[in-house]
Amino acid sequence: MEILDGKLVSQAVKDKLKAQTEERKKQGKKLPHLAAVLIGNNGASETYVASKVKSCSEIGFTSTLIRFPQEVTEEELLFKLNELNDDFDVDGILVQLPLPSHISEQKIIETIYPTKDVDGFHPESVGRMVQGLPAFYPATPYGILLLLEHYKIETKGKHAVVIGRSNIVGRPISIMLSKNDYPGNCTVTVCHSHTPNLAEICLQGDIIIAALGKPEFLKSNMVKPGAVVVDVGITRITDSTKKSGFSIKGDVDYDDVAPKCSYITPVPGGVGPMTIAALLMNTFKACIAKDIA
Ligand code: GUN
Repeated sequence: MEILDGKLVSQAVKDKLKAQTEERKKQGKKLPHLAAVLIGNNGASETYVASKVKSCSEIGFTSTLIRFPQEVTEEELLFKLNELNDDFDVDGILVQLPLPSHISEQKIIETIYPTKDVDGFHPESVGRMVQGLPAFYPATPYGILLLLEHYKIETKGKHAVVIGRSNIVGRPISIMLSKNDYPGNCTVTVCHSHTPNLAEICLQGDIIIAALGKPEFLKSNMVKPGAVVVDVGITRITDSTKKSGFSIKGDVDYDDVAPKCSYITPVPGGVGPMTIAALLMNTFKACIAKDIA
């Protein structure tokens, strides 16, 4: 069993982006600029956004963090997004989800210009991705592809079982893994809460992507020997032994499943850091697209 080390691979991606950014600076070119919008005080969202902003500064990107209180109106938020859309210096815009219930997530996503949609959530980005056109890929599934690629994991002809059908992970990764290119060419089954015989289907998976948000859901009796297991879960569980008061659990029962796998991602340190690496890749791409525009 080998660990798919997201921390290591994400650092390699960041090192490369840092060198490319330094090169741009030397050439007097514009530096990548990410604008992150955070609403309210959700602890997990605060942590993710702080991590994204910190990664930007580590590699020489400019970043702007815009905070709004939980009570911000949709109108105020749309006004800010339009400002960011029109600001030439801003290359990528991300609004951390989930949003307060009085704000339409769809409206927010569709307001961001597709050229600045580094989260890859805009319907235009999704449509381009589905059609195999150059597009911003959503960061988490893109990060998973980068990880599979780094470890040269064979995907062609493999059966990938995706558990979860969210717009952020399950749906896009299922499309990416079926594309006619590496990493892809998988036969993909998408499972969800209404799938009967889920364990039976998982047992057929050469690659399993667990993205349903249920801590330690995937057990060894659902995994074929030698399978590649990718754990996207990041649920906070109350844990009084931790200084923070919680620990993070993935969707895979790691100790039970790991001995049966050929490769597995740990939580934390697997998909999480790769999501950030992929977001930075998208931001860099958004920036260099302006060189030729
Ligand atoms: N919330 C959970 N994952 C994500 C993500 O990839 N992007 C944004 N903007 N919000 C999220």
